[in-house]
Amino acid sequence: MRMSPRGAMVLLLIAIGFVMPVAAAEMKPGAHAVASAHPLATEAGLEVLAAGGNAFDAAVAVSSTLAVVEPTGSGLGGGGFWLLHRASDGFETFVDGRETAPAAAHERMYQDASGTAIAKRSRDGALAAAIPGEPAALEHLAKRYGRLGLARALQPAIRAARDGFACDVKLAEAFAAQWGRLDAEARRVFAVDGRAPRAGEAIVQPDLARTLERIAADGAPGFYEGPTGAALVAGSVAGGGVWTLDDLRHYRVVERRPTVSWFHGLRIVSAPPPSAGGITLGTTLGQLEALGWKPDQGARSKHLLIEALRRAYRDRAAYLGDPDFVRIPTTALLSTSYARTLAAGIDPNRATPSASLPPADPSPQGPQTTHFSVLDAEGNRVAGTLSVNLPFGAGAMAPGTGVLLNDEMDDFAASTTASNAYGLIGSVPNRVQPNKRPLSSMSPTFVEGPRGLLVLGTPGGSRIITMVLIGLLAWDSGADALGVVSQPRFHHQYLPDVVMFEPGAIDPEEQKQLADMGHVLKPLKDTYGNLHAVSWDPAHGKVEAASDPRGVGAARVVPVR
Ligand code: DON
Repeated sequence: MRMSPRGAMVLLLIAIGFVMPVAAAEMKPGAHAVASAHPLATEAGLEVLAAGGNAFDAAVAVSSTLAVVEPTGSGLGGGGFWLLHRASDGFETFVDGRETAPAAAHERMYQDASGTAIAKRSRDGALAAAIPGEPAALEHLAKRYGRLGLARALQPAIRAARDGFACDVKLAEAFAAQWGRLDAEARRVFAVDGRAPRAGEAIVQPDLARTLERIAADGAPGFYEGPTGAALVAGSVAGGGVWTLDDLRHYRVVERRPTVSWFHGLRIVSAPPPSAGGITLGTTLGQLEALGWKPDQGARSKHLLIEALRRAYRDRAAYLGDPDFVRIPTTALLSTSYARTLAAGIDPNRATPSASLPPADPSPQGPQTTHFSVLDAEGNRVAGTLSVNLPFGAGAMAPGTGVLLNDEMDDFAASTTASNAYGLIGSVPNRVQPNKRPLSSMSPTFVEGPRGLLVLGTPGGSRIITMVLIGLLAWDSGADALGVVSQPRFHHQYLPDVVMFEPGAIDPEEQKQLADMGHVLKPLKDTYGNLHAVSWDPAHGKVEAASDPRGVGAARVVPVR
């Protein structure tokens, strides 16, 4: 049938004016879903959603509540990444609230006179702390994307800090393990009867409540300036740090374009530099695609995955850093041709010793953190991964603020030979420079494909990327949200040249086969990670949320009429 241009136009208008809204209406999840590392944070997200907020308001409520109830993992003194998707127009963006090095930072600040890195200096105490990004990011999220305003979204966090909350088992374990690392102010704030809090005991943080109230009243300047800003600088300097009021005043959130990679028809939207997540995921998946990888071939599947990771993590060390300071060949690293080249170097029967790959430093001269996933009934979504780096960050608290300082400076390469707390090596692109963001592994991720949508992420330092990878591969193989967060985990990161794995993650026969291929296996005594996922299957109208059984988190789906 031939159609006149006018007829075609009428059809087009019908399509735009009638079919699209119906289709769009059908494409709404019709339920709110929140999964986070703590039940109170999940409830905080649902509370602001019930009050008419959207997923972005919920992200502010969840993030700020986690800052209160999970001080091991994230906080106002830290930073994070928030990956957003807006349903009304499909806009997606990456809100980079990563900490920045203070202006007085320099390449040798964590080295002794002979140039050897001194790990303690970049991990414990105020010198380890970079300028926090979370308060600025919370304001940015609320102002630019939220509906309810910052003050409303911060209410659950303020209540939890002011009225207190019950210490959970994991937090009690962390206090017991880290009590000796915390400074006098942090111990004063958290102590119950002069000792570390135990499970079930109330933790009340009036100073932190006041700091949150200042942010609620004045926005980010309530943190970076005025009495809180002054107290933060005083705390830093008293603890041997180098922060200035100018450092705080100059902190800026940056919006970046997320990385997009493809695997088996899945579209994977993830964290761009200064995270290594999106590129490392993309390079790994590109190699698997080139190899025709299948998940169900026992030791062979694991071998190929390990080899792909080895090469992707080598590139992490060689090329990645803060994109505002170094040129990163993102397009080339994510290209099919590059993935094919890397994959061609993989021996299907033998491990390639990492030492035999070109060194990661082409120019030598030159379990904590937290994640949450939110989907609202309209289809807006947020994957947020936030951190203060090691448990309780630097262990130092600026007196009077309730704010624990991060030790994110350890994510820089302190020297060209040193590895950081996660055993990661780095090179020139990730050296310490003033006002620079340390390279991160945090990887808030969306996966879109024939089964719908998956929102996921986890803490776990360098292992974050392999956990997200294993989770999305499981989803591709048919796992539901609970299956995704529960997957047994193994990991390889180029150097150290070992395959680490959770108890039971690699069966004894596969272990033997992998060892015969030349892999060095390192069984771990404990499980790791704390992955939180939300999924939506529009074809079946199904929304799911799941929290990692390894943690104490909570996931809930609330249908909305
Ligand atoms: O940004 C990073 O990669 C690290 N600071 C994250 C630390 C972390 O996940 C610790 N968790 N167990």
